[in-house]
Amino acid sequence: MAQDTITHFYESDHDRLDELFRTYMRFKGSDYTMAGNYFRQFKSGLLRHIIWEEEILFPLFERKTGTTAGGPTQVMRMEHRVIKAYLEEMYDQVQLRNAETNEAEKKLLEALSAHNRREEEILYPAIDLSLGGDEMSHVFKSMEQLAEERYMDTPPTIAGTYGKAAAAPLGDRRGALLCRCK
Ligand SMILES: [Fe+2]
Ligand SMILES: [Fe+2]
Repeated sequence: MAQDTITHFYESDHDRLDELFRTYMRFKGSDYTMAGNYFRQFKSGLLRHIIWEEEILFPLFERKTGTTAGGPTQVMRMEHRVIKAYLEEMYDQVQLRNAETNEAEKKLLEALSAHNRREEEILYPAIDLSLGGDEMSHVFKSMEQLAEERYMDTPPTIAGTYGKAAAAPLGDRRGALLCRCK
């Protein structure tokens, strides 16, 4: 059974997060409760993704290649800080159920899509080249073990919608998200 690549796995997670954000935007004018649930799934998923990168993936790559200060992962970490600031800015509005968030959405989407493109085109392929099979397995195993409290900070507003979909993505969605087989 072939193991998934870092590039393929992380690209799929970018796509999944993009779709959650687009769904939030689709619902916000008609059903704000639903929109808010999708935004919270997006937020917790994005925070988890960033923790996976900063605490598991990047440190391993940095150790393997000896690149730390001034390297590509350093740039990505700086971009994460900007993205998280925009994310919190948007979340403040979502908690107020304010649908007038076009400007904040634009800033977040622009920062995120440029960042994701750099990771997908440059960093992830370089990481795939630098890691052996055992190291890759270690990355995926460590990702699975990340505690939910690290990225989930809001209780569900509709049981089963937010709670399960976002809280247990590595359990229920494991086949799609952590599948190492093609
Ligand atoms: Fe990132
Ligand atoms: Fe990423």
